[in-house]
Amino acid sequence: MKKIIIINGPNLNLLGKREPAIYGSLTFTEFFETVKSKYSSVELSYYQSNIEGELIDKLHEVGFDYDGIILNAAAYTHTSIGIGDAIKGIETPVVEVHISNTFGREEFRHQSYISPHAKGVILGFGLQSYELAIQSFL
Ligand code: DQA
Repeated sequence: MKKIIIINGPNLNLLGKREPAIYGSLTFTEFFETVKSKYSSVELSYYQSNIEGELIDKLHEVGFDYDGIILNAAAYTHTSIGIGDAIKGIETPVVEVHISNTFGREEFRHQSYISPHAKGVILGFGLQSYELAIQSFL
């Protein structure tokens, strides 16, 4: 069974409540339960942290063992050389995901420290972006 983890960065614990016009009104827990039963042939897990170092620790922990990492580093995407370096340093391929189309938003969201080291980038499809990323590993 393939082991895939979804890692979410800061403020994504507020999904469902946070700016629903941009991020939708479903909580991540609700979405994750649906996706887990839909892709029952995959060992799917989920981790969220608002803390940059904890996200880096999790990448180190799973990055030599798992088959795929789906990473929405949220605001750290645009600022974190540390997370970019962590992706460079691990073996498991990382697919970068965003709920919104970051290129249609403020200019500071056009920069990503993740993309140069990612296997691919999926953005702008709402929560379906995560599902497309899962499919990319199957
Ligand atoms: C986001 C886009 C980021 O710019 C933002 O900081 C987020 C969420 C997205 O999924 O659309 O927190 O990563």
